[in-house]
Amino acid sequence: MKSLKVENLEYSYGKNKILKGVNLSLDSGELVGILGSNGCGKSTLLKTIMGFYKMDSGKVLIDEKNLKDISLGELSKKIAFITQSTNQNIEFNVLEFLRLGRIPHIKNPFKGLDVNDNNIVNQVIKDLNLENYLSRKVVNLSGGEFQRILLGKAFIQEGEIIFLDEPTSALDINHALDFLERLIFKIKESDLIGIIVIHDINLASLFCDKICFMKDGKITYIGKPKDIIKKDILEDIYGYSPEIIENANTKYILPKRSNDD
Ligand SMILES: Nc1ncnc2c1ncn2[C@@H]1O[C@H](COP(=O)(O)OP(=O)(O)OP(=O)(O)O)[C@@H](O)[C@H]1O
Ligand SMILES: [Mg+2]
Repeated sequence: MKSLKVENLEYSYGKNKILKGVNLSLDSGELVGILGSNGCGKSTLLKTIMGFYKMDSGKVLIDEKNLKDISLGELSKKIAFITQSTNQNIEFNVLEFLRLGRIPHIKNPFKGLDVNDNNIVNQVIKDLNLENYLSRKVVNLSGGEFQRILLGKAFIQEGEIIFLDEPTSALDINHALDFLERLIFKIKESDLIGIIVIHDINLASLFCDKICFMKDGKITYIGKPKDIIKKDILEDIYGYSPEIIENANTKYILPKRSNDD
């Protein structure tokens, strides 16, 4: 059983405290959404949990082991990250870029990828229908195409925790749904943990097992989408209270212009 536990996590940029005691406990096979207004600390939270930023205080436990005691090599096998602002200015073609996902697993650096590594790369290419992109230069891909390649690289890496920071922000509705379907399928199939920062409440409602709303440096509400998507909670988090509709047991918000009835 894979697990991730965050206890009383605090982090500051200089004197500006952004995370003020975040608590979170996740089991495998779940996709958890982190939502909240711009600048509330969602990206900072992901980066601190992953150890990119050194926490002021608190604890992160991955499979019950303290993050501080996990070596960089071990960590790079365990976690995969799809960032909000990835530099796409990469000279590799897509196949070369995807193969980089196996680097944490390479046993003999002089030999490079072995048969097993190549099988994993090929399987993901097939599963995600990436065949037509392989010889394209990463730098020439559209933003949305690149986000799909990043998902492929994350699967190839076979991390047990996948962190995603607004991965569908550049995707059209069809590709966003496709991306999230594939993500959730993989999480359930391989019993992974998924943590996704996502602004679209309706997509979060459709795909996330749980939603965490962040405010004032903390997770102030956590629960199943249908229990937590409520007018008063949205008002508290965003200062905006949209109409909420329910369809097939899923809640959706209906944005309205301020002068509409
Ligand atoms: N490197 C940095 N140095 C100083 N302040 C920073 C830095 N990165 C982020 N901040 C500030 O910390 C706060 C939290 O930023 P963060 O990027 O975590 O927000 P976010 O919730 O991900 O927002 P968004 O929804 O806009 O992506 C913001 O006020 C931001 O301006
Ligand atoms: Mg962010």
